[in-house]
Amino acid sequence: MSIEDFDPIRIRKDFPALDQTIHGKPLAYLDNAATSQKPRAVLDVLSEYYERDNANVHRGIHELSRRATVAFEAAREKVASWINAPSAAECIWTRGTTEAINLVATAWGLDHVGEGDEILISVMEHHSNIVPWQLLAARTGATLKYIEIDDEGRLVLDGLESLITERTKIVSISDVSNSLGTINPVKTIVDASRAVGAIVMVDGAQGVVHTKVDVQDLGCDFYAFGGHKMCGPTGVGVLWGRLELLEAMAPFQGGGEMIQIVERDQSSWAAVPHKFEAGTPNIAGAIGMGAAVDYLSNIGIEAIAIHESEIMAYAMAQLSLVPGLRMFGPSSLDDRSAVISFTMGDAHPHDISTILDTEGVAIRAGHHCAQLVMKHFGVSATARASFYLYSTQEDVDRLVEGLDQVAAIFG
Ligand SMILES: Cc1ncc(COP(=O)(O)O)c(C=O)c1O
Repeated sequence: MSIEDFDPIRIRKDFPALDQTIHGKPLAYLDNAATSQKPRAVLDVLSEYYERDNANVHRGIHELSRRATVAFEAAREKVASWINAPSAAECIWTRGTTEAINLVATAWGLDHVGEGDEILISVMEHHSNIVPWQLLAARTGATLKYIEIDDEGRLVLDGLESLITERTKIVSISDVSNSLGTINPVKTIVDASRAVGAIVMVDGAQGVVHTKVDVQDLGCDFYAFGGHKMCGPTGVGVLWGRLELLEAMAPFQGGGEMIQIVERDQSSWAAVPHKFEAGTPNIAGAIGMGAAVDYLSNIGIEAIAIHESEIMAYAMAQLSLVPGLRMFGPSSLDDRSAVISFTMGDAHPHDISTILDTEGVAIRAGHHCAQLVMKHFGVSATARASFYLYSTQEDVDRLVEGLDQVAAIFG
């Protein structure tokens, strides 16, 4: 779809949850960085799967199992093409981004990271891209190092060569920050890592939602993302990894589906990706995520990105007029995704969110699983409005009107 044909008002009609009132006011849903709403096309695929095809995958010879397996593997092809993975076999179904990162930190990390080695992440990471590496460092004796952020919430890359050294085994970085909206220069980090032979993992939970991601062009080794922020169901996500790395890795979890032969004392493993998919997977979730890719592909991620940058330009301009409002993150729209974190005078972000909720405006308030970011800026929490393909200027106006109420109460 071209941007001329892109109509958020029409797109909203695809999302049943957007069509409701909250406390008597129409819902303005601005918590998309936490999770997106789901289009009817995805909801229908989920219920059709359970109503007609429900069966376990890869196991049965009967027709329902065949159908479920075909749909499950077709969804793998769809998510692979969404990120331009060279092969669907390189896409492992996980519970989400968090599990994908834990998979790498455990299955790759425990065999490749040891005492004296270094793991590099950044201060702006979501806890999902911090804690797994802390666990790995504690188990192996490796050192966890951080790329700092500046006052606009950008990575400080001066002196990157002193942070990425021969001791660095893995660098794990988000392509887009969930708390600040910063779009990170992943390729620069990949180049510096390649120079010392370090592996690069990208936390793509926010990136894959808003821009065209091409893992081959990025040049990273692992890319993690989930379904629920991109119109798909919760509880499903993908780890993409380079085939030779995945093939050389030990399994993450043991169980059914991931084996070739089980003997009394040992077992051999199924081929990638099944080696990493122990137990019954989230079959409906995977099929639903495939349907979300179809839905978004029909609209076009490029048109969505243009729409979001227009909404962001409008929102930043309107919010900059609100007295006492402090925005966090890059001031330039060029390196900023569809997220605005802010504080307002002495009003606690939870109070801001509560007052907005009474006006039907849903935002997030808290540390956004990014406590290191909060610490960097000397705040305990922020309010966060985040936009998506169905966001409108009216949503932004409703947010600003709600903030007038906050100002009236808190002065
Ligand atoms: C940057 C980032 N990383 C990781 C996660 C965790 O993702 P998931 O819910 O798919 O486990 C999130 C979710 O908010 C996120 O924004």
